[in-house]
Order: sequence, then structure tokens, then C-alpha cells
Amino acid sequence: MTAIGIHDLELSTTHHVLGLTALAEFQGIDPNKYHIGLGQDEISMPAPDEDVVTMGASAALPIIARHGTEGIRTLLFATETGLDQSKAAGVWVHELLDLPSSVRVAEFKQACYAGTAALQAALGIVARNPAERVLIISSDVARYELGSPGEPTQGAGAVAMLVSAEPALVEIEPTSGVYTDDVDDFWRPNDSTTAVVDGRLSVRAYLDAVAGAWDDLAGRGGPDAESLSRMVYHQPFTKMAMKAHQHLTRHTGVDLGEGGLKTGSIYNRRLGNTYTASLYASLASLLDHEDDLAGSRIGMFSYGSGLVSELFTGIVQPGYNGSGRRERTEAMIEARVPLDVDTYRELHSKTLSSLQDVETPRVTKAPFRFAGIKDRARFYQRTGN
Ligand code: CAA
Repeated sequence: MTAIGIHDLELSTTHHVLGLTALAEFQGIDPNKYHIGLGQDEISMPAPDEDVVTMGASAALPIIARHGTEGIRTLLFATETGLDQSKAAGVWVHELLDLPSSVRVAEFKQACYAGTAALQAALGIVARNPAERVLIISSDVARYELGSPGEPTQGAGAVAMLVSAEPALVEIEPTSGVYTDDVDDFWRPNDSTTAVVDGRLSVRAYLDAVAGAWDDLAGRGGPDAESLSRMVYHQPFTKMAMKAHQHLTRHTGVDLGEGGLKTGSIYNRRLGNTYTASLYASLASLLDHEDDLAGSRIGMFSYGSGLVSELFTGIVQPGYNGSGRRERTEAMIEARVPLDVDTYRELHSKTLSSLQDVETPRVTKAPFRFAGIKDRARFYQRTGN
């Protein structure tokens, strides 16, 4: 059987960052609640001329530069920060990246799980024709109401992945475990710019889903828990991965060890929740911070509130960490411009209506910018950066 999986992967994030110490001090609470209690240090915050399209295109640009467009006939855009009820955000990316008209584009939605739905679809497309490659973009801005318990778990970022036969990074194994249940733990109604969340219920639902997806994987003859060298998890906040790992250890009755939780959360601690991109940002963090994973089996748990979840596995390929992604990602994270709390709150409160034409101020240093709204349609520009 042809090996299929993730051939290349790249991250991008926003122009701004908010330190959680500053947020805690503004709120008059102990910063350790965020740094230790939630395991989060910073949250990325978009400038007015950034959104899921600009982040997604910025993540995909270096992948296209490295591999060209040969064989790419599909771009799947996963997000829960939908910009339009009809048009897939990936169509704007298609234009910004100057992709051929023979590339089909569609958007996937199911909260933070959508990136994994796109990955499964991509694996199917490549299985049908191993000469094809699929570009996946997972891109999100996590927004909760100011002053709500979810506020310190905001964040923003995108991951672009190229899925192909004979992948250079991680071969995805064919058996996976799925767990779906209709639960109102987190959702975003069409008339709301922030998520509605029952935080306690969402943590419980996440843990039930890890166990349920494991049972489905085991029931379908998936790999033994003992063979999992590392685990990466969707990370709404990095402590959630720790809770899930402990829960899975109890549930399987197998000592899963530390499992790469620390190396797999270095980027997530600083980006905040990136919804659909979070699991794959964690995978990048793990691959970029460990040198001896070639041949190892990694378990990956994808969770999307509402809820759909999946636990699947992959084998890390030889030479997986030679691309310099760690240096690029660290430089990008360091380059973010810090916000003071007042400016952050002002930015947070600004939302655009399609009923009003607007030109956004030039702020971002990314290769692409959201330029504004004209006649109810969004328009984008290359910045030349
Ligand atoms: N020093 C160290 N730790 C401290 C502390 C201090 N001074 N003060 C509190 N803590 C600890 C608490 O003991 C607690 O740890 P445990 O969970 O291990 O017991 C932790 O900090 C958080 O404290 P609280 O539970 O009191 O925090 P909270 O109720 O204010 O908010 C939350 C927590 C409900 C998760 C909230 O952040 C939230 O609503 N987040 C959004 C929803 C979310 O992320 N859910 C996760 C699952 S859903 C999902 O995964 C999908 C998605 O992406 C949204």
C-alpha cells in the first residue's frame, strides 16, 4: 500500500501579541492562574488588516515556493472563523497564491475538528490518485467576550500542510478512532462575533471524547497504546493536553509516560488557541523540538466542540526535521508587536459590518493583507513583504 501523509507543514500567526501577565494584572488576578493553571503565556491577536485568509495564505506561501503547484488539484480550507456563508475563504487564498484554475477549493467546518476532516478527505483523494497532492489550510482567530473565563484562551494562527504519497514528514496510518456526540459545550451563532461556551462542560466533553475515540480505534484493530511513542492533542490551552493525556493513561491502563507534552506545546503556549490549527501547531512543535523521532509512532487527538473528535496515528519519517521550520517559527513568534491591555481591548471591540465600505489601515508585515470591504465584498492585497 502506498504511504500517504503530511509532506510539508508551515505555521503563520498575527502581527500583534498580548502577554497574559499583563491581562492578569489588569484583571487583578494571579498571573500563575494563566501560566500554570491553564499553561498559556501569550495570545496572538490580528491587526485590522489580518484575518484567516491572510494568515492562511502566509502559511501556504513557503510551501508553494518549496514544492511548486505540480499535482495540486485541491485546496481545502478549514476554519471556524467563517468569513462568508457562501464563499470558501480558500478562494481568496487561491487568488493570492496565484494557483492554477484547475485547483478546486472548498471550506470545511466542524469547530476545531475541521482540519482533521480536511486531512481525511485529502488522504482519500491521494489514495485514489497518488500523483495528486492536496493543500490544506487550517486558520482561525479564537475570540471570546472580554472579561469571560475564555478570554485568556484566545489566540490566532494558521497551519498549511501539503498531503502527498511518500510523505517526507509523517505517514498517516489508515485506522482511526472517531467519537461524535451532540453536546452544546461551545458554538458560535451566526449573529455573534464571539464563541458561546460552557467551559466546565467543554472540558468534560473533551475528556469523554478522548476515551470514546480511543475505544473506537482499539475496536477497529488500531495500534496498541504501548506502541505510542508520543501524543499530540488539540490544545485550547496547553493544560488541556495534560488533562487528556492523564485521562487516556487511566482509560487505557497503560503508562503513556510524559508523551512529548512539553515539546508538543511550545508553540501553543505562545500562540494561544488556534482552533483548527491547534493540533497541527502542536505536531510542528513536537517535530521541531525533538531530534530522534524518525520511525516513531505518534498518536494525534483532534477535538471539535459540538462535538466531533478523532484519534489517529502517524509514523515520523527519516529526515523529518531538516527544513529550518523551528528557526522560522521562532522568528515569526518573536517578531509580533506587543499590545498594552487598553489597545488590545480597543482592537477586540472593533468589528466590521459588510454594510459599510471600509479601507483598513496598513499594519501587517505579512505578505498579504485584508484591504477592506467594498460593495459588501471583502478584498485582499499582496503587500510586497
Ligand atoms: N496558580 C496556579 N494555578 C491556578 C491558580 C493560581 N493562582 N488559580 C487557578 N489555578 C488553576 C485551577 O486550579 C485550574 O486548574 P485545574 O483545571 O487543573 O483544576 C486552572 O487554573 C483553571 O482555573 P479555573 O478552572 O478556575 O478557570 P476558569 O473557570 O476561570 O476557566 C475554562 C477555565 C473554563 C477552561 C475557561 O478558560 C474557558 O471557558 N475556556 C474556553 C473553553 C475551552 O477552552 N474549553 C476546553 C475544551 S473545548 C475545546 O477544546 C474546543 C476549543 O478549542 C474551544
